[in-house]
Amino acid sequence: MAVSDLRQPLPFPEGFLWGAATSSYQYEGDNTNNQWYAWEQSGHIKTGDRCGLASDWWAHAERDIDAAAAMGLNALRLSLEWSRIEPEKGEWNGEALHRYHQILQALRSRNIEALVTLHHFTDPLWLTNLGGFHSPDIVARFDTYVTHVVEELADVCSFWCTFNEPNIYAVAGYLVGDFPPGRRGDMRGALEVQGAMARAHATAYRTIHRLQPEARVGWAHHFLLFDPARPQFFLDRLVAGLQGAALHGLFPRAMRTGTIPFPLGLLAGDLRDVRDTYDYVGINVYYRDLVRFDLSHPSELFGRRSIPKGAAEGDPPVDGILGEIYPDGIARVAERVAPLLGKPIYVTENGVADRTDRLRPWELATAVQSLHQSLDRGIDVRGYFHWSLVDNFEWAEGWRQRFGLIALDPETQERTPRRSAALYAAIAHANALTPEMVREYVEAGQRVRDS
Ligand code: BGC
Repeated sequence: MAVSDLRQPLPFPEGFLWGAATSSYQYEGDNTNNQWYAWEQSGHIKTGDRCGLASDWWAHAERDIDAAAAMGLNALRLSLEWSRIEPEKGEWNGEALHRYHQILQALRSRNIEALVTLHHFTDPLWLTNLGGFHSPDIVARFDTYVTHVVEELADVCSFWCTFNEPNIYAVAGYLVGDFPPGRRGDMRGALEVQGAMARAHATAYRTIHRLQPEARVGWAHHFLLFDPARPQFFLDRLVAGLQGAALHGLFPRAMRTGTIPFPLGLLAGDLRDVRDTYDYVGINVYYRDLVRFDLSHPSELFGRRSIPKGAAEGDPPVDGILGEIYPDGIARVAERVAPLLGKPIYVTENGVADRTDRLRPWELATAVQSLHQSLDRGIDVRGYFHWSLVDNFEWAEGWRQRFGLIALDPETQERTPRRSAALYAAIAHANALTPEMVREYVEAGQRVRDS
C-alpha cells in the first residue's frame, strides 16, 4: 500500500519503549578526568569548541528528565562516566555513585525505564596511561568497575548496555584518527581493541547476571549502510560488502560464534568465551554511503564512498562527508541482524544533526515508519531511542552539529524545544504513527528534502 493510502494508524505493541539517548561526556559537563578531556585540551576539537558544562546534567539532569516525562517518553538511555566512579585506579567515588543513583531514581519515579551504558567512548585517564584497551588486565579492570556499579545501582536499573559502538571507538581512534588516541591506518590496533572490548563485554555480561539474574545485558553497535553505487557492477557490490563486513561484521560475529575470520582473529585474540553473551542487540543507525570500486582507494578496501545526488544531509561536518541521512536503514539493519543474532532488537540510537529542524520531523517520522515495517515483518523490535534529547557536545565536531529534540544554548543553558519534540511526544502518547503524521511529515518531508 502506498503510504498516502494509509487510513488507520500504525500501532506499536503495548510496552514499546519510546526513548531518547544521551551519554555522560556529551551531557554531564565538567568531566576532566578522561582521555576525551585531554584530547580536547590538546586542541583536537575541529571547531576549537569546549565541552565545558555540556548540557549541565551533573547538576541538573532532572530538568531534562522532566521534559522527557512531559513528552510521554517511557525510556531514557544514559551512560555512566567511569572516570567519575573510579577517579584513580582502585579508588571509588561514593558521591558519584550516589548522584547516578539519584538520577536513576528520578527516572524511575517518573515511570521512565533507564537503559544504562557502562562505556560510551570515554576512558579514565589512569586507564589511558596504562594503555587503555590494550592494557593486559583491561578485562579484569572493566569487570571490577562493573561490579561496583551493579552492586550500587541494581535497585534502580536492570537494563544494561556494556559498550557503545566498539566498532566506532576502534575505527575513529585507530584508522581515521578523529578520536583519541588519533592513530591512522592502524589496523592491528583497531582489531586488538575490539577483541579486548568483546572479552570485557562477555566477562561483564556474566558478572551482571551473577549479581542480578533478571538483568538484560547487550551492547550498542553502529551500522552504516553501504550500497553499491552501480548495483549492476559486481566489483561495486563486492567492495560495498567488504566495507560493511569490515565496519560492522566483527563484533556481531564474535557474539554469535566466538570467532572472527582468519587472519583477523589472530590479532583480536581468543574470543571463544564471547559466544552468546547478549540478551538483546542495540543498533545505532544514521547514514548510508554509496560505494564504487576504485583502485586508487586501497586504504578503504578499494571502495570510494559518496552520497547520492540530492540526498538528505544534516549540519555539515568540519571536513569530509557524513553520509546520507537514511532512516529507512532501520528496517534493513533490523532485518539483517534479527536472523543472524536471534535476540530482541532495540534501536539504541537514530537521529540527525539539524540545527534548524528542517529535516528532523521527516527523519523521525520515517524512522518510526521503518520500525513499524520491521514489526510487520515479524522482527522483534522492542524500543527506539532517538539521539538525542537535548543538543549534545558532538565529539570532534564540538557544538557544530545539533542533534537535540530540544535546542540548547550552551552559554546560557537556555532550552528551546524544536518542532520535532512535539511530533515525538505525539508519537509516544499515541504509541502509533497516525495517517496525518505520515502525510504531514513523511511525505511532506520528502518534498522538503527533495527541494
Ligand atoms: C554516538 C554518539 C554521537 C552520535 C551522533 C553515535 O555514533 O554514539 O555519541 O553523538 O553518533 O554523531
